[in-house]
Amino acid sequence: MAVERTLSIIKPDATRRNLTGKINAVFEDAGLRIVAQKRTQLTEAQAGAFYAVHKERPFYGELVSFMISGPVVLQVLEGENAVAKHRDVMGATDPKKAAPGTVRAEFAESIEANSVHGSDSLENATNEIRFFFAETEIVG
Ligand code: CMP
Repeated sequence: MAVERTLSIIKPDATRRNLTGKINAVFEDAGLRIVAQKRTQLTEAQAGAFYAVHKERPFYGELVSFMISGPVVLQVLEGENAVAKHRDVMGATDPKKAAPGTVRAEFAESIEANSVHGSDSLENATNEIRFFFAETEIVG
């Protein structure tokens, strides 16, 4: 297994409920290292461009509105097999289908307000990290 980096976003429903530390503890307990982190308010343009792959989906407009409804915490997580490991601990997109103990099962409010985002492949991780972080902001 290789050491990988993946992009994580703690979403507005979670920052609103002050859950950043609890979610970070799940990631760290799983062996993921937070090698970059910044709390920010996304602009509509940023959120729209980040989720451009979903542009044709019926939930796109609401998703963009939700992602700018409050602060997010952008993170780079590093570790062995980080992309799959992060997806495992996040749980299924729909919290009703997420396994017990996963972030979404524990904390998500709905399929949209599902507390966290994670890259779904190594290739997307590289692109998503580059979208939000300069290489100098990532300290392994
Ligand atoms: P995320 O992993 O950030 O990727 C796309 C997001 O779209 C997803 O999490 C959800 O927050 C949101 N979303 C809203 N409705 C749906 C849906 N029906 N299916 C998938 N994703 C949805």
